[in-house]
Amino acid sequence: MIMSKTSTMTDKTPRVVILISGRGSNMISIVNAVNDGSLPIKIAAVISNRPDAAGIEFAQQAGIDTAIIDHKAFALREDFDQKMASKIDTYSPDLVVLAGFMRILTTEFVEHYANKLINIHPALLPKFKGMDTHQRAIDAGETEHGASVHFVTAELDAGPVILQAKVPILSTDTAETLAARVLEQEHKLYPEAINKLVTKS
Ligand code: GRF
Repeated sequence: MIMSKTSTMTDKTPRVVILISGRGSNMISIVNAVNDGSLPIKIAAVISNRPDAAGIEFAQQAGIDTAIIDHKAFALREDFDQKMASKIDTYSPDLVVLAGFMRILTTEFVEHYANKLINIHPALLPKFKGMDTHQRAIDAGETEHGASVHFVTAELDAGPVILQAKVPILSTDTAETLAARVLEQEHKLYPEAINKLVTKS
């Protein structure tokens, strides 16, 4: 008999919804970790706010439920967030994972998912919240940089850190070379952080 990975999943397997906006390489690293048996979760859905997000096609081909909720169709941020939340809640997730999801979320949304909404940020928080983290780290003369997985709270990039990964900053680094080295770490860090949360290890 051929056993599929899903055959090892039980009713108690933590359910995860992943939100993306673009290429989705972190989402793909999470899917790969599930498929190689190192991450005991069920990816219930991948949802994008952008119809052209490359990651959506990957998720579809991987047989994962997908949805697109285009934020441009909503005049109010509150309405978009409510629509997202009602879609997410149909999957009864234990964890909602932001993986390159490029929208500021309302406090209401964030509080609705208190303690089960996480994000990956390309910097060693609390340093370099916000955008252009790699260039800012180089400009600040930092010798190391990295990525953080953290709980999402109402204040941008300020929630409690779950795990971090560090890389050295080389004298030859540009924002692009540094971003690539950090991204490589992100792809290991995010599955590891999710694993830590779902297994409470
Ligand atoms: C990553 O660098 C992540 O840290 C940041 O947005 C980027 C998303 O990349 N939040 P991807 O869509 O996962 O490839």
